[in-house]
Amino acid sequence: MILLDPEQPDAEHSGVREAAEVCPAAVIFIQDQGAPMTTTQADDLAGAPLPAPRRCPCAPPGFYTETRASGRPRRGTIWDGSNPWLVATHRQVNQVLADPRFRADVTDPAFPNVDPAQPQTQGDIFFRQDGDEHLPIRHILDPDFAVTQVERWRPRIEQLVDKVIDALLTQPRPVDLVKHFALPIPTMAICEVLGVDLADSSTVSRATHLMTDMEAPAEAKVAAMGEMSDLIGRHARDKEEHPDGRLLSRLVTWHVPSGELTFDQAVLLGMLVIGAGHETTANMLGLSVLALIKHPDQRDTLRSDLDTYAMPCAEEMLRWWTIIQTEPPRFAQEDIEVGGQTIKAGEGIICSLAAGVRAWSAPVPRPEPRPP
Ligand code: HEM
Repeated sequence: MILLDPEQPDAEHSGVREAAEVCPAAVIFIQDQGAPMTTTQADDLAGAPLPAPRRCPCAPPGFYTETRASGRPRRGTIWDGSNPWLVATHRQVNQVLADPRFRADVTDPAFPNVDPAQPQTQGDIFFRQDGDEHLPIRHILDPDFAVTQVERWRPRIEQLVDKVIDALLTQPRPVDLVKHFALPIPTMAICEVLGVDLADSSTVSRATHLMTDMEAPAEAKVAAMGEMSDLIGRHARDKEEHPDGRLLSRLVTWHVPSGELTFDQAVLLGMLVIGAGHETTANMLGLSVLALIKHPDQRDTLRSDLDTYAMPCAEEMLRWWTIIQTEPPRFAQEDIEVGGQTIKAGEGIICSLAAGVRAWSAPVPRPEPRPP
């Protein structure tokens, strides 16, 4: 078992301590910012801006961890002046995400858009829809991401990763790990799954980066969506003529003719798969390497027996970094109590996955090592 914080995996952490464990650069940054936040200061922050300012690049913002420590949802303020609730404990995040009365429809005026471009860029995407709109589309994607199918991809993905590492080793030192390792791997892997040409990867990289940049203007995001839509649309038309059994091909040659999707929805789904898996995986790869550099003892344990430790290590990295920082948002369809607080019908609520899993009070499940 690998735990990035071997001493107190289940304890409440302050962001400052988390940073000190992972990244000396972050500690210097924090020292420049003054003393760690106290509970009194945190109470003053009720209604703090969301996404909350981050004092350390390696830890959830103080407002999130202080909200978690308070045990109750607290209000934040988003760009349009509205005040959605923030939930930050593991239990409360689970409660909200498991309750269909907390709705995900981004086109509803009650939905708390943390990004002004959200209704435009996500309005037709199934992961911002509820129940009967969401599920049938999700089922279309399920087979490609089932464990057995992902296992079938393993040899091909390993081949691609080897290729990227070989190319990395030929670069002059120091080498930019993100540019030459973390970004190309998800691009190549997702392009394989979708069945699109790798030569288009630079367009994919640029557009997905813009789409996930919290500070990019709405017009730039909409333009990036258009660029991706043109690109995937061209490939989708090509698949109609030359089907290859890969995901994009099946979307347009099975699910469009069957009436489950329109052609435009098929293209949007292709774009979602690229967008959802690209920056997330790239950031996880880069940050995981950083964590192992900062924890050489755990790096050595990992290297000592990859068959035993690789999977638990990946799970722990996902928990520790939880790179999705402003998601998932929902709104209450009726009055619902969460952590002793009534979230009224029509009020927005944002789940902090990052704060929720950093202080996991339930036993952390560890996957069994993969059979040889
Ligand atoms: C470390 C990598 C990843 C992380 C941390 C991550 C995280 C997440 C999170 C938090 C959501 C829920 C978002 C919300 O409801 O607001 C989500 C949804 C989704 N992700 Fe990922 N993801 C990762 C990689 C991928 C990859 C590689 C793919 C596909 C190639 C993918 C495809 C999707 C899809 C299709 C959804 C929507 C699912 C649904 O609504 O039913 N993700 N992901």
